[in-house]
Amino acid sequence: MKSKVLILALALAATTLGASAQRVLDISMKPRAEINPEMYGIFFEDINFGADGGLYAELVKNRSFEFDYPLMGWTPFGRVSVETEHPAFERNPHYVRLTGGDGYKKSGLQNDGFVDGMGVKSGAEYRLSFYARVQSGAPVKLRFELITNDNNIMTAKEIEVSSPEWEKQTLLLKARKDDAHARLRMTLLSSGTVDVEHISLFPVDTWKGRENGLRKDLAQALCDLHPGVLRFPGGCIVEGTTIANRYQWKNTVGAVENRPCNDNRWHYSFRDRLYPDYFQSCGLGFYEYMLLCEDIGAQPLPVLNCGMACQYQSCELVPLDSLQPYIQDAIDLVEFANGDTSTVWGRLRADMGHPAPFGLKYIAVGNEQWGEEFVKREALFVEALRRRCPEILVVGSAGPLSDGEQFDYLWQEMKRLRVDLVDEHYYRPPEWFFANADRYDAYDRKAPKVYAGEYASHHKTRANNFEAALSEAAFLTGVERNADVVRLATYAPLFAHAEAWQWRPDLIWFDNTRVLLTPNYYVQQLYSLNKGTHTLALTENGVPPTGQEGLYASAVLDKERSCVVVKAVNASDREMPLVVRLNGLSRKQAPAAEGTVVYMQSDDGSAVNTFDNPAAVVPHTEAIALSADGCTFTAMPYSFQIVTIPLIRK
Ligand code: AHR
Repeated sequence: MKSKVLILALALAATTLGASAQRVLDISMKPRAEINPEMYGIFFEDINFGADGGLYAELVKNRSFEFDYPLMGWTPFGRVSVETEHPAFERNPHYVRLTGGDGYKKSGLQNDGFVDGMGVKSGAEYRLSFYARVQSGAPVKLRFELITNDNNIMTAKEIEVSSPEWEKQTLLLKARKDDAHARLRMTLLSSGTVDVEHISLFPVDTWKGRENGLRKDLAQALCDLHPGVLRFPGGCIVEGTTIANRYQWKNTVGAVENRPCNDNRWHYSFRDRLYPDYFQSCGLGFYEYMLLCEDIGAQPLPVLNCGMACQYQSCELVPLDSLQPYIQDAIDLVEFANGDTSTVWGRLRADMGHPAPFGLKYIAVGNEQWGEEFVKREALFVEALRRRCPEILVVGSAGPLSDGEQFDYLWQEMKRLRVDLVDEHYYRPPEWFFANADRYDAYDRKAPKVYAGEYASHHKTRANNFEAALSEAAFLTGVERNADVVRLATYAPLFAHAEAWQWRPDLIWFDNTRVLLTPNYYVQQLYSLNKGTHTLALTENGVPPTGQEGLYASAVLDKERSCVVVKAVNASDREMPLVVRLNGLSRKQAPAAEGTVVYMQSDDGSAVNTFDNPAAVVPHTEAIALSADGCTFTAMPYSFQIVTIPLIRK
């Protein structure tokens, strides 16, 4: 690995420890803390085109003509105007009016997709839908075409519009080739005038085959993480740059056509990565979010605005005496998720297709807030939620920083308010993650629990490289050891479009047709798949390995799978022979003859997975022989390993 800091830190070790000295890891078989089954989760925010242009499978950008410039994303030709009179959808009033051209010159529009076109697959079907009405008495004909990247017509269909009232029309287009940069073109073939609104194109083959669905490959990547919890929708997007463009969950439920389009703050958050065409359609809203949670077995963890806009930007505050609607939003969200169908919001959920409750149990109030004004607002939410929704676990916040004066102040206040969990964020360099594997060892066991709500190792290159992933694996041994204190953890952010990102590192990269899993993804997945049910004390010479001579380790018991799982990171540049000793096995229990070791290793800390080489850093699995009380194995330099020791009855 190329980290000089790490090499220096370990140089001492190289001189004091023989190259092949065995290190003994003693594991006490007495189960300690119960591990939250929801412990390892994911954090979804519409950043880096993660929702529109990403997980949300809609292919048409600005389908409702509601961006600041209503024709953004569209190339009109012929006679096209934008109108708002007698709209089809009152909250999305803009639509286009096409008037038939004379002779050869036609009128129409072409859509460029979210990021340089639309990804389509040969043979796959795409469901096109739109709303239209004729302005002239006579019916008109519209032609829809999928256009290849090199401007050829891939497939086309014509459809007649005859109603003078808004009417939904649907047709299927079949792609004739693979194309990551296809376009959709609509042309009015007849004379006459037609109004068209909400032009939408989805693959038929979405995740679970749902209309208004999710991109299957990306949803599958989430599912494969087996996340326990899914934080949504942010992140700073919750706060908004201003109060006006904060995320409002009520605007994201009900008919998609009538969900008002919102700014996406990530279109202008970084001046050097400006994406002026980045808005939120809210098509992936709170209903779709909760369905996804259900599909992948994750608990929803919604984050709500606490009456404050981003404190790095406008710092707008909702006066305390005007906060009630914000608090009511939180209470209504519980009703939307859990209420029976006789309630207003429970009824809406049922009408949308899910009569059964979603079983919401967490709500986070505020994202990266700080200061007294935050505490005052948080207090009002906590009080109301306790009274109206006592079943809900309330997540407070320790602000945007991993430590410092504000962090300490907020922790003290969150204790005073008796929130259930405190959301901590840390975007720090790999050295910090390596150095903080003992972060939670001395945390107050009686205080609110910790939710590591946003974290990622930020290498100076900001790459999702192996050094960053290894440092996260090392840090997580400390999280695991302290699973009585840290009840939830979600890496951040989740998705990034490789050709249109604002922030990195990110767990999963994708483009219009492909998905790329990072080394960091595999670390998360390995923890999630091997979380166990109870922590076990693991020590070397009486103390937990938290980086001594480059070793980090923790252990869990999995009562359901009947095994012990040891996680070990060797962050040094030398092989590390390890002896794992299970102490206190019952007389009826013994390790099986063989276990497994899953490992990730690279001598190159800068190694990354790429679309051309997606398996540069991935886990490998091998069998390992077990002894009567454990096993012996050698951890390679710069490696993360998970050793599973199945227990059998003697
Ligand atoms: O994950 C990206 C951003 O990082 C989140 O929106 C914010 O909460 C944090 O600062």
